[in-house]
Amino acid sequence: MKEPKQLRVSAIQNGTVIDHIPAKNLFKVITILGLDHIDTHLTFGTNLESKKLGKKAIIKISDKYFEDADINRIALVAPDAKLNIIRDYEVIEKKVVEVPDTIIGIARCMNPKCITNFETVTTRFRVVSKKNVALKCHYFEKITTQENLQIIECYLSLSYERTRSSSLRMAQ
Ligand code: CTP
Repeated sequence: MKEPKQLRVSAIQNGTVIDHIPAKNLFKVITILGLDHIDTHLTFGTNLESKKLGKKAIIKISDKYFEDADINRIALVAPDAKLNIIRDYEVIEKKVVEVPDTIIGIARCMNPKCITNFETVTTRFRVVSKKNVALKCHYFEKITTQENLQIIECYLSLSYERTRSSSLRMAQ
């Protein structure tokens, strides 16, 4: 008899697994982290059952580790995200994300008259509420809230560390 077919998202050998992303914000997380430009294996699943979030998404990034400051940028759209650091197939560390005090160049200012919306000036915000994210624009003092939060499509040059094994492979 034939084995029933199963959809399996493979375990990764080395890298980072970002779990507990709200399903509706999966592609925002991909944009914020510049994952649409990476050259290592990337797998993701979405609309997975989650008791806490209803529907969640998960991203597995092989051979990549993120600096806390870079990963914390996703807290804007995935405040409950949990990071799993994988080495040799084992989860060696779990981290949670934290909304930073300032946000530079990720979100668009909701004020159409803001200089950042018509000149090449990077957006800057002070985070005035971390729970229900509210960002105060540095230039116009307007508040951008979770409801009108728009992510600017950009490629962030993330600092990351490759695993020793992949560095060795590259050196060979
Ligand atoms: N994972 C992976 N590759 C590995 C090890 C783990 O892709 N080599 C993934 C698992 O599929 C899971 C996540 O990393 O989605 C966390 O793994 P683990 O801590 O083993 O799972 P849970 O105990 O379910 O995690 P939590 O309770 O923190 O959600």
